[in-house]
Amino acid sequence: MARIVAGIGSSHVPAIGAAIDNGKTEEPYWKRVFSGFEKSQEWMRETKPDVAIIVYNDHASAFSVDLIPTFALGCAAEFPPADEGWGPRPVPVVQGHPALASHIAQSVILDEFDLTIVNKMTVDHGMTVPMNLLFGKVDKNAHWPCPVIPLAVNVVMYPPPPGHRCFMLGRAIKKAVESYPDDLKVVIFGTGGLSHQISGPRAGLINSKWDKAFLDNLSKDPQKLVRIPHVDYMREAGAEGIEMVMWLIMRGALDDKVDEVYRFYTVPASNTAVGHIILANRGRGGARKSAAKPKRSAGKLKRAAARVKVERIRG
Ligand SMILES: [Fe+2]
Repeated sequence: MARIVAGIGSSHVPAIGAAIDNGKTEEPYWKRVFSGFEKSQEWMRETKPDVAIIVYNDHASAFSVDLIPTFALGCAAEFPPADEGWGPRPVPVVQGHPALASHIAQSVILDEFDLTIVNKMTVDHGMTVPMNLLFGKVDKNAHWPCPVIPLAVNVVMYPPPPGHRCFMLGRAIKKAVESYPDDLKVVIFGTGGLSHQISGPRAGLINSKWDKAFLDNLSKDPQKLVRIPHVDYMREAGAEGIEMVMWLIMRGALDDKVDEVYRFYTVPASNTAVGHIILANRGRGGARKSAAKPKRSAGKLKRAAARVKVERIRG
């Protein structure tokens, strides 16, 4: 059966994608950001997921104000990079996993979550920037290391879904994945945030204290986060801080108790606080239930996790 072995939280700042695409990652400003993901890329190479579910938001690339699904699940075989105004990012087409995506759609919808099923969709920096941060730079003509199931969430136009709804959707996704018969190791990303506001009198707002508390509770006590009202995100984390509800879908898809494998926080990138966390489910760390093909053991994943020292928050 399929298993979610870990959750990854990552900001998806578009300027990070531009820095990668324009060869600026070694410049001091950007090196501070990218160096925080080197251990994460090592962890990802060790973990070798079969599939990644990536919770992100579209920035008027695939959707517009004409159509705003609250939760849209990508069930297509592939997702080309979007034209974001400067042309599509030079990254590979994202390969989907239609069989698992369709299974999740069926399970979650019958569980009373009204997903929109999307069979044709482009994906923008909201998804491809976290993929670069965790998988590294991938040549446009090469392939991403694993198939991806995109889950687009409306956090652009009011009303976005409440944090509790997001967390419970994560729970339903966990149940769906665990009822899929094939032996797959799955990771789930929550992307966006952390605190930032890109326009208006408070443009440039960053609230590190709020961000750190969010990461602490995400790791140890997510129930403290699920009832935070939208107005608190707006007030404390800026107008675009509401993207953080997407991290609650990721957290809901994990076990109650998790191990914090890694954390990184730095400010600013562009005008945004960059947050990143890796949370691993305990005890099963990718261990395959199938005796026929035991590709990786829980012990091996634990040793990989141990090599990646937990880095406490800075900045
Ligand atoms: Fe965004």
